[in-house]
Amino acid sequence: MMNETQKQNPEWEQALQTLAAQKARVMVLGARDVGKTTFAALLANRQLAHGIRTAIVDADVGQSEIGPPTTIGMGLVEVPVPTLHAVVPRGIYFVGSNTPRGRMLETVNGVRAMVAKAQEAGAESVIVDTTGFVTGAAARRLKCAKVEAVRPQFVVAIQRKDELEHILRPMERRNLRLIRLPVPETVMVKSPEMRQQRRVMRFFRYFQDARLHTFALSDIACEGTWFNTGTSLEWNEIHFLQETLRSRVFWAERTTEHLFVITDKVVDERALVIVEETFRVAHVTTAGVHRFVKLLLGLLNAEGDCLAIGILERIDFVNRTITVRTPLRDASGVAILRFGGLNVRPDGKEIGVVKPGEI
Ligand SMILES: Nc1ncnc2c1ncn2[C@@H]1O[C@H](COP(=O)(O)OP(=O)(O)OP(=O)(O)O)[C@@H](O)[C@H]1O
Ligand SMILES: [Mg+2]
Repeated sequence: MMNETQKQNPEWEQALQTLAAQKARVMVLGARDVGKTTFAALLANRQLAHGIRTAIVDADVGQSEIGPPTTIGMGLVEVPVPTLHAVVPRGIYFVGSNTPRGRMLETVNGVRAMVAKAQEAGAESVIVDTTGFVTGAAARRLKCAKVEAVRPQFVVAIQRKDELEHILRPMERRNLRLIRLPVPETVMVKSPEMRQQRRVMRFFRYFQDARLHTFALSDIACEGTWFNTGTSLEWNEIHFLQETLRSRVFWAERTTEHLFVITDKVVDERALVIVEETFRVAHVTTAGVHRFVKLLLGLLNAEGDCLAIGILERIDFVNRTITVRTPLRDASGVAILRFGGLNVRPDGKEIGVVKPGEI
């Protein structure tokens, strides 16, 4: 990141001066590589110099600066920071994916929760940095929902041409000030490989000193999955499933309407119809056991606060335990495991994606 003494683009400088003494909620919007994160850091430092207690909410789950990737992080800026990465996380919210696509509810809830947490921590000003997801109707809905959740007094919109206008125009009659800024010429573009590599590094560092914790399934709740949400089947029923699906069945549980089965291979569609009819359920979800291998989890306490993230290392289907690798030292406060949508090795390599509803 450039340093403060470097000459700013005059429009950026003016915006920074306008906002430097404002105790407000500021949301920064823009496509990829337009300088959003840089602007947020510059503004935080300016506000610090004005004696304002400023928090950053890092809502970019892909290129996370505060907290590990897949989370929305929050931290207070208490000393001048060279980059947002230097901000120590005070809270994280586990979205579970490196993109808001398919996880919009979690993204918006996370932003709302982290802004609230910042204010509880005494922040007078909150700067919300966002992802570069700005194209299309889904992006517009997401940004609109974020504005409703944050209720910013200022929206800083950094755009190359007019790519944000479809998001900004609907905001124009809201009680907020829109500040449109150009993209500095010196901005550096990050390739998809660089972004990926950065995530690998961040995950690797996060899990470097992680340890294994084993939880009894009877002691914790599982969120974001069918797993551990129904009633286990009898042995004869499992035997029938194995015969019909022609697959090993590691786990099967049901509710009145739904049957959930963990298998070792992909099962035949026609066999599923037989299973549906036999068990008289409206839906059957089958998931290969490999989908759970190295799955990212959020470790939440009973309040729903995310204490840390973890990697699912093992489910013992017989003894009904789940083993998680996490840097969290004391796991006694963990009440809920929120299942994410990314399989990640402890060395940071992303090895799979799970969509909501697939497990
Ligand atoms: N005003 C500026 N002057 C010079 N360089 C800048 C400026 N703003 C950003 N840069 C450089 O451009 C690069 C991209 O900026 P930045 O990461 O802030 O963009 P972003 O919009 O947050 O990107 P992302 O899509 O990854 O979130 C950075 O390396 C940063 O140092
Ligand atoms: Mg950024």
